[in-house]
Amino acid sequence: MEFIPGFHLFLGQNAQGKTNLLEAVYLLSTLRSFRGAGHAQMVRQGQEGFFAGGTVVEQGNHEVKFYWSSRKKSLGLDGRPVRKLSEYFGLIQAVVFCTEDLQLIKGAASVRRRFLDLLLAQTQPGYLALLQRFARAVRARNALLKQPRPDAPSLEGFTREMLASGGQVMQCRRDLMPQLAPLAVDAYQRIAPDAEALRLEYQPSVKADFEVELAQSRQRERVLRSTLVGPHRDELRLLLNDRSAAQYGSEGQKRTLAIALKMAQAEYLTRRRGAPPILLIDDVMGELDARRRGGFLPLLEQARHARGQVFMTCTEENWPRELSRDLIRWEVKTGTVKPGAANPAR
Ligand SMILES: Nc1ncnc2c1ncn2[C@@H]1O[C@H](COP(=O)(O)OP(=O)(O)OP(=O)(O)O)[C@@H](O)[C@H]1O
Ligand SMILES: [Mg+2]
Repeated sequence: MEFIPGFHLFLGQNAQGKTNLLEAVYLLSTLRSFRGAGHAQMVRQGQEGFFAGGTVVEQGNHEVKFYWSSRKKSLGLDGRPVRKLSEYFGLIQAVVFCTEDLQLIKGAASVRRRFLDLLLAQTQPGYLALLQRFARAVRARNALLKQPRPDAPSLEGFTREMLASGGQVMQCRRDLMPQLAPLAVDAYQRIAPDAEALRLEYQPSVKADFEVELAQSRQRERVLRSTLVGPHRDELRLLLNDRSAAQYGSEGQKRTLAIALKMAQAEYLTRRRGAPPILLIDDVMGELDARRRGGFLPLLEQARHARGQVFMTCTEENWPRELSRDLIRWEVKTGTVKPGAANPAR
């Protein structure tokens, strides 16, 4: 399929393949599903693997091919295998809005860390490699701690590596906050004017000195046999009127907040690159009331003006009629996509 710049609307009844299509675009962007599905789950039942491919038309064309099966994985860029993920990341920038976003508020701290990490990986060339280094060091360290008598020099080596890479990870996350937080606060204001005040707070697991605090945790580490201090335990606190949104927020507030975080992500990417990311909007618009939809529209307008791309799914019942103009409609039915009716009855 070929998608010109603009606003693409995928209409279809439930279980026809709309999300599937958005997932393919997101997969090429981040090599992951946004539904929280593992790679094995994305393989069509009865098949061995999956393939997703595309041509990115921006400054010069780039050809991307991603194949995955339990036995063989390959990612190709312009006919050559990609050896380092960090070299691929950032080529296709996408932000997804979907019902799973609610986990950003309700879910474990790891969901919020992943949100920060993805944004940093999308915008800072070295971040992904750094994060991978840190994760490897923690894993190796934890494996050692599980042994009855960990080899001291090895433990020391991985500890050094973890302190070095972990310190940088924390610094990157800390530096991101003053740029990201105001964007999220603004977005929240736009969707819910006159509502409670939003505050984002980076709460690192390390309070002052990583090395000292790690040393202080040694006793507990020995009992629990894993690394207890470090950026793998960081939290991004979300507060509405100074109270935890997860604990005190209403369902509507949580949903609004989740969208605001994603809008901030899109806005941040736009500023960093000077061009908007691909917006993938799955089932979200139809669920919003008119006021919240109103807060969302400027982002879509901005994407339109910058000749960006928006991919949005809706069922035939719930698609927002005020978006009628300039839409490119597609009809999704039993796994096939075809151009939709040009002028459907309003
Ligand atoms: N691994 C798989 N292999 C085969 N079919 C699958 C697989 N995973 C999901 N499906 C099916 O694919 C179909 C399309 O799913 P998809 O989520 O894209 O639908 P949708 O059009 O977004 O529907 P909705 O409006 O309900 O969100 C569903 O019937 C789903 O059960
Ligand atoms: Mg769907």
